[in-house]
Amino acid sequence: MHKNSVKKVRVDKVLSNLGLLSRNDGRTAAKRGRIAINGVICKTSDEKCDPLSDEISLDGVVIDARPLVYYMLNKPAGVITANDDKFSKTVFDIMEDKRVDLAAVGRLDKDTTGILLITNDGALNHRMLSPKHHVPKTYQVLIDGILTDTDIKLLETGIDIGDEKPTLPAKVEIKDTENPQHVAITLTEGRYHQVKRMFEAVGTPVLKLHRSDFGPLKLDENLAEGCYRDLTEEEMAALEALMSGK
Ligand code: URA
Repeated sequence: MHKNSVKKVRVDKVLSNLGLLSRNDGRTAAKRGRIAINGVICKTSDEKCDPLSDEISLDGVVIDARPLVYYMLNKPAGVITANDDKFSKTVFDIMEDKRVDLAAVGRLDKDTTGILLITNDGALNHRMLSPKHHVPKTYQVLIDGILTDTDIKLLETGIDIGDEKPTLPAKVEIKDTENPQHVAITLTEGRYHQVKRMFEAVGTPVLKLHRSDFGPLKLDENLAEGCYRDLTEEEMAALEALMSGK
């Protein structure tokens, strides 16, 4: 499980890293009482703060000094993808990192398990979910029934699930012909309960749903349900490539 490291750093370094002040300007700004940590005016620019939890302000304006974080979480069944809920445990309730700016990239149903990306990078969140970009998502599905060739064709070409438009083309795979109830489906859109509604539409309701892939990210097999970790450098590079359209 991810452990949050709390590191204190000089407030002038935080402001200069953000490009708001040079280190020299920081000294003068502190002397003039322009910098505050948690509402307390700094006397000198070498005062230390925790950018993850302290409120830093310059000229009375609170600065968002929190670094961007990217977590892969293996969502267990029984928790909901929401920031807060009166009745159910949320994915944020099971995380140690309690930063309020974290958000899940997309949603999984309460009974769905698998890969969920959690970040405070709003641009990435938007990019991954934008209907313009068709980021693929792969689900491992246990269905009640067996798909016919016609069903597979329908699911793959686009099927009416009661929305204005049929679904976009998808990829359906039955990896093990001995176990045809185990199906993998890759979608490039994310409508409400989409996988369940697609299989329901061909008369084979979903019994179990697990997301194994999200864009370039694959669920880490060593990540137990309910646990999360920082993305690796390779995973970050894959996301950056996606963001820059490579
Ligand atoms: N489609 C669904 O029906 N449920 C999910 O949780 C994700 C995709």
